[in-house]
Amino acid sequence: MDTRTGVALVGAGAFGQFCLKTFAAMPEVQIVAVADIDSGRAREQAALYGARAYGNLADLLANVDVTIVALNTPPYLHHAQGLATLRAGKHLFCEKPLALTEAEAAALIRAADEHGVLLTVDYVMRHNPFWAAAAALRESGVLGALRHMDLANHAAGLDLPDDHWFWAPEKSGGIWIEHGVHFFDAFAWVAGQPGEITASQAFARPGGVIDRVEALACYGRTAAHFYHAFDQSGATEQTTVTLTFEHGYVTLREWVPTSLELLTPVPPDGWQTLLPGEVTLAPQPDGRFHAVARAPEGKSAVYRASIQAGLRNLVRAIQGQEPLRVTGQEGLDSLAMACRAQALAARPGR
Ligand SMILES: NC(=O)c1ccc[n+]([C@@H]2O[C@H](COP(=O)([O-])OP(=O)(O)OC[C@H]3O[C@@H](n4cnc5c(N)ncnc54)[C@H](O)[C@@H]3O)[C@@H](O)[C@H]2O)c1
Repeated sequence: MDTRTGVALVGAGAFGQFCLKTFAAMPEVQIVAVADIDSGRAREQAALYGARAYGNLADLLANVDVTIVALNTPPYLHHAQGLATLRAGKHLFCEKPLALTEAEAAALIRAADEHGVLLTVDYVMRHNPFWAAAAALRESGVLGALRHMDLANHAAGLDLPDDHWFWAPEKSGGIWIEHGVHFFDAFAWVAGQPGEITASQAFARPGGVIDRVEALACYGRTAAHFYHAFDQSGATEQTTVTLTFEHGYVTLREWVPTSLELLTPVPPDGWQTLLPGEVTLAPQPDGRFHAVARAPEGKSAVYRASIQAGLRNLVRAIQGQEPLRVTGQEGLDSLAMACRAQALAARPGR
């Protein structure tokens, strides 16, 4: 008997195709269906995995082999398609953002409860070993209090054509909702408590769309700063997260981090076991320690493993083997921060 969990993917675009390839390598799931409004694309992708192709969601939801729907359509469709999925008794692996508004996200959470199914959001950082190490360092208290978290995200917006849904706020929700949610959630995880936005601003291209946003927040007594710019190309993009502790600095580089750097006066026996991958350690002339933990397998492998870990967690949660690592409520909390940042920055500056 085939004990694999049947997964359907809806929205076989750029990221959907990456997810299909990624899911196909998981022994515990089987891709049973692929839907896309572009039925040729659905057929082509379904054929690669021996799955059934669908041109619409309603027909796919009638397929009894589908246990989980991975929703990879643009953000403005997540609410309606997510609701249809949950009401059909299917579990939801939702791409971020969970929805465009807090009311829509709350409706999805209610629908999951009412229909006795689970929903989670594909927040890949929650399954990244270097983000997990940052959270473990904070939780251990070995570096003292977490004072400040800083994100500088210079992303490849120049590679997105002007008519891409990303630039249309009614489709993407805007930068905070489409992309910021990842980091609002990751910072809450690292800080161990929810955050609150205190200030926000936005910058538009000359005569054009908003392509840079910035906000201040606090997570309890930890201050936070977020800067998202979609004004770089794939060749020049760069993401840096700096966490400042009472006794040390932690740096994560790149949007999918493959390394973590730590500079601290605290001796390694207090924190070395919390670092993943290959660790190099160099005592500094000033008496501090500089450690770098690296994933030798590279970015694509780390990214795929993070997506797989999220789907695997949902499969195990459905089977009652473990709790969800990313709950619907956490999807809503991070979305609420994004909506607040959006509202505070409603009047673009400069
Ligand atoms: N978690 C991550 O790391 C990550 C990374 C990239 C993108 N994403 C998210 O994935 C989602 C998709 O992004 P993308 O870059 O792949 O977009 P995309 O535009 O490349 O793909 C979207 C696909 O959905 C299809 N589609 C549109 N309307 C549809 C409908 N009504 N029914 C079925 N299919 C429909 C389109 O034809 C297209 O194939 C977004 O929510 C995005 O935020 C998440």
